Amino acid sequence: MEKQRTFVMVKPDGVQRGLIGDIINRFEKKGLKIVAMKMVSVNKELAEKHYGLHKGKPFFDPTVKYITSSPVVAMILEGYNAIDLVRTMMGKTNPIDAASGSIRGDFGQFIGRNIVHGSDGTDTAEMEINLWFKPEEISNYIKIDEKWLTE
Ligand code: RTP
Ligand code: MG
Repeated sequence: MEKQRTFVMVKPDGVQRGLIGDIINRFEKKGLKIVAMKMVSVNKELAEKHYGLHKGKPFFDPTVKYITSSPVVAMILEGYNAIDLVRTMMGKTNPIDAASGSIRGDFGQFIGRNIVHGSDGTDTAEMEINLWFKPEEISNYIKIDEKWLTE
């Protein structure tokens, strides 16, 4: 098992609908450690860099518009297999296909309003962490439950 860091964001609809606490609560209860967190009013430049891999696709412009429409809550979560763990907890991209019990499955209805983002691999996690956070915004600390979260 590998300890990883992943970039996670509560998207504008999650913030507007009062779901910030519910979403963070799920990650905390799972045992993931929050090592950085902030609210960000995303500008076009940051949004286009974040979704740069999707440039040219039909949903690129609407997705940039969506993510810049209202503040988001950005965070870095740490834990064993954190990248895949968060993706499983988020559910499939389209909330119609997302399992009940997942964040998108429980709270979402539309692919273009899917509440939450999580990095999809080690390369994107590294890119997104560097894009959204300066090193001094990241707290490196030991949390008291860590020895209970390994086997
Ligand atoms: P995200 O990056 O936001 O965590 O979502 P994801 O990995 O599950 O999905 P991705 O393929 O990276 O797509 C990024 C976002 O673009 C919108 N999208 N719309 N209409 C469509 O076919 C379509 N496909 C993607 C979604 O809002 C998705 O979260
Ligand atoms: Mg993605």
